[in-house]
Amino acid sequence: MYETWWKEAVVYQIYPKSFMDSNGDGIGDIPGIISKLDYLKELGITVLWICPLYRSPQKDNGYDISDYQAIHEAFGSMEDFEALLAGAHERGIKIVMDLVVNHTSDQHKWFVESRSSKESKYRDYYIWRDAKDGKEPTNWGGCFGGSAWQYDETTDQYYLHQFAVEQPDLNWENPVVRKEVFDMMNWWCEKGIDGFRMDVISLISKPEVYEDGPINTNDGYSAVGCITANGHRVHEFLKEMNREVLSKYDLFTVGECSGVTVEEAKKYAGADTGELNMVFQFEHMDLDGDEHGKWTKKQLYLPDLKENFTKWQNELDGQAWNSLYWDNHDQPRIVSRWGNDSEEYRVLSAKMLGTCLHMMQGTPYIYQGEELGMTNFPFRNISQVDDIECKNAYQTLVLDKKEYSEETMFEIISKKSRDNARTPMQWNDSKNGGFTTGTPWLSVNPNYTYINAESQIHDPDSVFSYYKKLIELRKNNKIIVYGSYSLLCPDDEKIYAFLRTLGEEKLLVICNFTSETLALPSDVAEQKDMAKDIMISNYAEPSDTLRPYETVVYTF
Ligand code: NOJ
Repeated sequence: MYETWWKEAVVYQIYPKSFMDSNGDGIGDIPGIISKLDYLKELGITVLWICPLYRSPQKDNGYDISDYQAIHEAFGSMEDFEALLAGAHERGIKIVMDLVVNHTSDQHKWFVESRSSKESKYRDYYIWRDAKDGKEPTNWGGCFGGSAWQYDETTDQYYLHQFAVEQPDLNWENPVVRKEVFDMMNWWCEKGIDGFRMDVISLISKPEVYEDGPINTNDGYSAVGCITANGHRVHEFLKEMNREVLSKYDLFTVGECSGVTVEEAKKYAGADTGELNMVFQFEHMDLDGDEHGKWTKKQLYLPDLKENFTKWQNELDGQAWNSLYWDNHDQPRIVSRWGNDSEEYRVLSAKMLGTCLHMMQGTPYIYQGEELGMTNFPFRNISQVDDIECKNAYQTLVLDKKEYSEETMFEIISKKSRDNARTPMQWNDSKNGGFTTGTPWLSVNPNYTYINAESQIHDPDSVFSYYKKLIELRKNNKIIVYGSYSLLCPDDEKIYAFLRTLGEEKLLVICNFTSETLALPSDVAEQKDMAKDIMISNYAEPSDTLRPYETVVYTF
């Protein structure tokens, strides 16, 4: 397997609106990010992925872009961005931009023109269709609920939007659109950025024939994402993007690929397929979902997670490359989700989860605050919620269909809503966690008084110090990056244990996912007996049993 920097990288994801506010308007901004570059260097990460910074009406917090070559005013200016790029590069940190080209904002000049007339030269930049039998062209439902089609009176046609009404889908069949996108990407590369995280890139190629699909959403539609995922021309489009842009620079590229299977991932991110470096897959994130999608109290069954990760680890080994993540701006906080955020176990379980993920093959991603063991938010009222997806789900499941009581829905929102990840970063124990001197755009988690960066940076037992060590170990041990993986005790419902091997070297990784004290399964005990030293653990002293949320990595 060939070795390269993006495989050895550790990525840190920033959600700019919630990271650090420098001017007291309650919204994070680029100067705020610049002020925290030393913190990030101290943590040891080597790549920053920053969620969209571009000009945007912010209907979906920046994933609705109205100008790809301008910075959103509330985040700062292009000069600020250039200073950020320079400041990061000075510290040996690369900058990866979010690339959102499945759709634009409805305020983008292309769409404003497109909707104005059927004769506009921009008409075919988007996907317009006539009504069918007086209704939407198909029964496709958008990812944020409701129909994926929006009627537009001006020209008496519908346009496709897989996400919010204000996020019309671009028409990738149109070569002029592709050229516009590639030109824009080249412009950013010339500015010196180091790569792209590609938003819902698996959804850009639509079917040849537009027809109804099976009804499979809460509100009676056919989920459009199931219809467009891995469309028939997506690999052709990405190969073209690679030829026109990516191959000209030494870039970090990761595609967000909902609906991706291992077979598809080998095409998107195969060692020699000429598309992307790696993909984000979602299978593990769906394991605690059910027929209500994510809006359920279903608990994770650990053997499902092990089976899923094992499939990705083994099938991509030597053929493609994994991205490793628990958290991002669309997912709840992992310590609350699959760990234990009680006072007793939060720190232990956050470290255990970090170890489990960072000891796998692939490139790990840390989402802001994960390195502090930040938790979900205790939502109790819809006025505390900002996210469009969550508000729509509340409308459908509580108000319209009455499937859930308020109480049940808020229990679920506190477990699953995307806003759990979007509450402001907790820097210190001063007002608003030191995030802003003004009123934060989304409430700060009240636990900032004791969960914050300042209290952890110099504490050798903190989650921060532990993540720092995980990152350092990865930098100094190729086996952590490149070693092969093999699962132990597959059916155990409480322990996740696996081996990594590279040449003569071997590691044993053991993680207790429960608050119980457990005996080691026989195959794990057998390996442990042969082990030599402890590389990292979240308990100070070794033990023969596995204590609550204990994790240990052994060398041989
Ligand atoms: C995926 C992004 O991660 C999410 O935040 C956004 O809402 C959708 N794509 C639409 O752009």
